[in-house]
Amino acid sequence: MEHNDRAEQARQSYNRMSRWYDVISGPFGQKYTDAGLQQLAPQPGEKALEIGYGTGYALVSLAKAVGQSGKVHGIDISDKMKEIAQHRVRKAGLLEQVELVRGDATKLPYAENFFDLIHMSFTLELFPDKLIPVLLQECRRVLRPGGRLGVVAMSNKSKPTWMLRLYNWSHKAFPAYVDCRPIFAAKLIEQAGFAIINDKEMNMWGLPVTVIAAQNPEGL
Ligand SMILES: C[S@@+](CC[C@H](N)C(=O)[O-])C[C@H]1O[C@@H](n2cnc3c(N)ncnc32)[C@H](O)[C@@H]1O
Repeated sequence: MEHNDRAEQARQSYNRMSRWYDVISGPFGQKYTDAGLQQLAPQPGEKALEIGYGTGYALVSLAKAVGQSGKVHGIDISDKMKEIAQHRVRKAGLLEQVELVRGDATKLPYAENFFDLIHMSFTLELFPDKLIPVLLQECRRVLRPGGRLGVVAMSNKSKPTWMLRLYNWSHKAFPAYVDCRPIFAAKLIEQAGFAIINDKEMNMWGLPVTVIAAQNPEGL
């Protein structure tokens, strides 16, 4: 499938899911997102980006952490997710600190070296194999040297458990419903040229979730 068709398919599918996302899957992912944000340790005054912000759970934590001297940007393919996230940020009184766009993360609409940190949870594993390196290079481009990348992702194993095998099978059999698939996130992030600072493994109903903090090398 062409990339633009896939992005359009993701837009439509997340638009449909947006109303139910926080009931069906949002709360189950929050403890992993919290672990990712804790590892990333956003500081007052920093400029942060969230890729695939969904209903905006992490945007609120990021905006509180960077404070009024900082700024949070977000990009998501779904216009309905944008509406919901914007509402959440407004309710939290953080609208001035958060700027959201709807767009495709493989073409980030930001200048080089713009961000101090990027956060992504349950999003990298949605991208097809050949686009993950494209997305990670975009992250490197918009992160300043020494900037941090935080990724929370369902992770694959060289010796998968039966739960992981079942999940991998479901993804292949029903890709429209099970759109994420576990990936070797740390390897992909390293291959993109980041240095891994921390790689913590957590568990979601027998499925491994990896929580990674990495650094964009300095002096390139
Ligand atoms: C599984 S949800 C995760 C949402 C949130 N980060 C969380 O942890 O709950 C993935 C998000 O990525 C967005 N997304 C999918 N493809 C995208 C793309 N090509 N560019 C930007 N966002 C995309 C979806 O619209 C959705 O909001």
